[in-house]
Amino acid sequence: MAKRIDVSGLNAYYGSFLAIEDISMTVEPRSVTAFIGPSGCGKSTFLRTLNRMHEVTPGGRVDGKVMLDDENLYGAGIDPVAVRREVGMVFQRPNPFPTMSVYDNVAAGLRLNGKYKKSQLDDIVEKSLRGANLWNEVKDRLNKPGSGLSGGQQQRLCIARAIAVEPNVLLMDEPCSALDPISTLAIEDLIGELKERFTIVIVTHNMQQAARVSDRTAFFNLAAVGQPGKLIEIDDTERIFSNPSVQATEDYISGRFG
Ligand SMILES: Nc1ncnc2c1ncn2[C@@H]1O[C@H](COP(=O)(O)OP(=O)(O)OP(=O)(O)O)[C@@H](O)[C@H]1O
Ligand SMILES: [Mg+2]
Repeated sequence: MAKRIDVSGLNAYYGSFLAIEDISMTVEPRSVTAFIGPSGCGKSTFLRTLNRMHEVTPGGRVDGKVMLDDENLYGAGIDPVAVRREVGMVFQRPNPFPTMSVYDNVAAGLRLNGKYKKSQLDDIVEKSLRGANLWNEVKDRLNKPGSGLSGGQQQRLCIARAIAVEPNVLLMDEPCSALDPISTLAIEDLIGELKERFTIVIVTHNMQQAARVSDRTAFFNLAAVGQPGKLIEIDDTERIFSNPSVQATEDYISGRFG
């Protein structure tokens, strides 16, 4: 569990458009890495290359290498479905399966992956909901639709669904942007707990959030619209927000704070 990510020379395209260029970085296990940068610089695109979701988009194509410990996710014979099981994802808008109960939402991935006895499923569902700090709020309504929960609860349900299959890595693309401040804090606390077990990468437009939740921060930028996004620098979060090495990082961060 919790493997190291090592990306090198990664380019991602939509058709002939080069969206991100020559990205290299490592992410240590049991850490939180935040991706920041202006709209359109390729944060979401890059995130999706880390679990082979990018290629699901028509024209989506990648070259370069993404190593998860000693395995190249883009190597020959790698099954993208297996990759997505190891590298889970939580999206911007909570997207529970609308017709499914709270219980079935969490159990859905497990049921796809293999045969579990009812009692085993019960245990994993409870453990995952506890892990997502949602158990106490839903334990009496496990058979009610997941779509009946509040937005913040739905997002925690999606996190429970993602961690139920015990991924190595959890990718989160602006997981709090549709949430109120209280729910946002709940998710931030949860991220702090989850990093003891998972490697977490989170995209956020909220500088304070990046500063609060992450150990490392990566700043992405693009020279102009139509140009590819690039990784400008990645460093300890404290350093990025106090004394970044690159002027563009400083400008972006101070602009946002100012
Ligand atoms: N499905 C797509 N087809 C074609 N181009 C796309 C597609 N999705 C994104 N792009 C382009 O790729 C570039 C990077 O987009 P991406 O969504 O990764 O940026 P982002 O940093 O996540 O932005 P935001 O902060 O607004 O979410 C942009 O130029 C965008 O227009
Ligand atoms: Mg995005």
